[in-house]
Amino acid sequence: MANFISYSNKYTLLSILSLLIITISSPVLAQLSVGFYGRTCPSVFDTVRAATRSAINREPRMGASLIRLFFHDCFVNGCDGGVLLDDTASTPGEKGQIGNANSLRGFEVIDNIKAQVDRACRRVVVSCADIIAIAARDSVAQLGGPTYLIPVGRRDARAPSPARTTDLPAFFEDLNPIAAKFKSKGFTTREMVALSGAHTLGQARCVLYRDRIYNETNIDRGYARSLQANCPRVSPNGNNNLAPLDSQSPNRFGNSYYQELINRRGLLHSDQVLFNGGATDSIVRAYSNNPRAFLSDFANSMVKLGNLSPLTGNQGEIRTNCRRIN
Ligand code: HEM
Ligand SMILES: *[C@@H]1O[C@H](CO)[C@@H](O)[C@H](O)[C@H]1NC(C)=O
Repeated sequence: MANFISYSNKYTLLSILSLLIITISSPVLAQLSVGFYGRTCPSVFDTVRAATRSAINREPRMGASLIRLFFHDCFVNGCDGGVLLDDTASTPGEKGQIGNANSLRGFEVIDNIKAQVDRACRRVVVSCADIIAIAARDSVAQLGGPTYLIPVGRRDARAPSPARTTDLPAFFEDLNPIAAKFKSKGFTTREMVALSGAHTLGQARCVLYRDRIYNETNIDRGYARSLQANCPRVSPNGNNNLAPLDSQSPNRFGNSYYQELINRRGLLHSDQVLFNGGATDSIVRAYSNNPRAFLSDFANSMVKLGNLSPLTGNQGEIRTNCRRIN
């Protein structure tokens, strides 16, 4: 009996101690919240919305570019603003890696929004990671997509994660490898298909869809031919020429991307694999028939994307200049 009591006491003490240690040291307990800047920068959402709107008015494609920036920030070691860091003499950034280089856009717009936010708040208190998340949210809304609340309180990485850009899916990949990459970040197949609906917006370069329009067979003939007019067969001719990912409405958020896939008019190989006789065909069909289901799943999945291992509490920093660590 005495033995049992002393064992049980020791056990209790140990669990209290470990709970204390977890409470003090674990950042997992710190949560993002919509009201995070309620006291320190109450105008942050208004400021980002206005600046994002004017950037899109200047150039409609910018909304797409900001949404993609959010995806590429969050999928590479979490939503930590790492994608914004410029290369330095000692550290290559994420933005110069394959898949990002020559491809990601919107860095100047983020710089501009950050400057406006810091001015409005009269202090440097909002992270670059949060600015990407809010600007992406506002871009979706501005272009006619769903509106949703975006929790904030992310902090900025003190180093980029260039080696982790391989976590991003690539245009030449098949369904299973792409699904595996989303699964490793905690997303279901359905969420992956919903997020891919972001390709209702924006453009891609000829160098990335050339093989598809000249060599693939699961493509509408007329569609392929019309794209060939602006994407010559032999590289590097026309490599940077652009075509809309969704030829119905590249600047209008909607479910037409899925209708295009059903008609074998996906622009990238990685788009058409979502509707090519596999397990995701039924989800594509469902979203093409039910815009409301798509919009709702898309919004929820964007919030989930924004929750990918953020830095919180006293981790990381709040950058003054989004392009370099303080
Ligand atoms: C499913 C796997 C995905 C692959 C393989 C993929 C790949 C690509 C590629 C290759 C481009 C064109 C880049 C260029 O021409 O340089 C692109 C553009 C784009 N992607 Fe994705 N993407 C995927 C998922 C996503 C997700 C989840 C989002 C956002 C939630 C997203 C948002 C965009 C947007 C908006 C554009 C157009 C950007 C612009 O016009 O500036 N993509 N994507
Ligand atoms: C078509 O496929 C062949 C064989 O893989 C390849 O050599 C050629 O470069 C491809 N053509 C285009 C335009 O991508």
